[in-house]
Amino acid sequence: MSYKGLIHKYKDFLPVTDKTPELSLQEGNTPLIPLEHLSKEWGIELFVKYEGANPTGSFKDRGMVMAVAKAKEEGSKAIICASTGNTSAAAAAYGARAGLRCLVVIPSGKVALGKLAQAKMYGAEVFEIEGNFDEALQMVRKLSEEEPLTLVNSVNPFRLEGQKTAAFEIVDALGSAPDVLAIPVGNAGNISAYWKGFKEYHEKLGSGLPQMQGFQAEGAAPIVNKAVVKNPETIATAIRIGNPASWNFALEAVEQSSGGVNSVSDEEIVEAYHLLARKEGVFAEPASCSSIAGVWKLVKSGQLAPGTKVVAVLTGNGLKDPETAMDTVTVNPVKVSNQLEDLREAMKGCVLQ
Ligand code: F0G
Repeated sequence: MSYKGLIHKYKDFLPVTDKTPELSLQEGNTPLIPLEHLSKEWGIELFVKYEGANPTGSFKDRGMVMAVAKAKEEGSKAIICASTGNTSAAAAAYGARAGLRCLVVIPSGKVALGKLAQAKMYGAEVFEIEGNFDEALQMVRKLSEEEPLTLVNSVNPFRLEGQKTAAFEIVDALGSAPDVLAIPVGNAGNISAYWKGFKEYHEKLGSGLPQMQGFQAEGAAPIVNKAVVKNPETIATAIRIGNPASWNFALEAVEQSSGGVNSVSDEEIVEAYHLLARKEGVFAEPASCSSIAGVWKLVKSGQLAPGTKVVAVLTGNGLKDPETAMDTVTVNPVKVSNQLEDLREAMKGCVLQ
């Protein structure tokens, strides 16, 4: 039988009633790719959960399909979210699919180009504030209490319900939970959702529990520093967040799993971003690569025993942020005329004899 999306596949684990519409863009069912080169170099068994393969190119589709289906079930006419970009793309797409009006509030100048293009294409109404994500979230939370708008940020519990299905897929693919789950942390919804998913599967199937290792960008690392960051800054704009809404859930996940939350610098993120693309042929957006940068850090500090089975979550597609790709790549195309001999000359040194 063909795949019909998350709500259909995992309905026994989701808050689905006979009134919940079977909304789907066939989200989920994303690849778990073994990283052969990096596994060998680092002496571990490393996989990536490639969430960039979702219909709007990020893990947000998992939570959004559930949140929008429930909004529709409850008779809502409009959804609203604050976003660093991916949530707005997913909200706009599922809003369009479900016939709901979609309002998105984003930090001006800090949303990657592809994400902004998506929100506009899917027909969302976009509001750019002179402020950061944390301020935008505060505003939409208040608005949704006072106006007939359904909030679809991850403080909406249906979001985490949908997102926990990624943990199910990892266990389904590996036969049991990995030793370690490495994951980027921004607003901290996703780490909380994965932990919920692993726990629920374990209770039902005895599938084991991973150690949860979360990674924040150094300039936006409130959980690591145990203090709100007023002006978060990082090249990884998706996780440019200084006061995560699911802070406590994230702490619970790392404490219960004997894991941790650590930070990685922008340089380390960019290094991992390039390494992944060049060595493994996997293109993920910068924020996603904080999980790989973090794994490399744990390997270097001897915190991952040889052979440890690690799944790193790559939360968003590299194509979301073409500007960062172009800005951080040092090799440019060689300009050539339309003459074959000029091309042959220009290629000298590239072609093996
Ligand atoms: N990676 C990407 C690509 C993201 O877009 C986000 C969050 C995260 C990681 C962090 O996930 O917030 O659950 O800890 N993006 C949100 C947005 C904030 O608005 O798209 P988290």
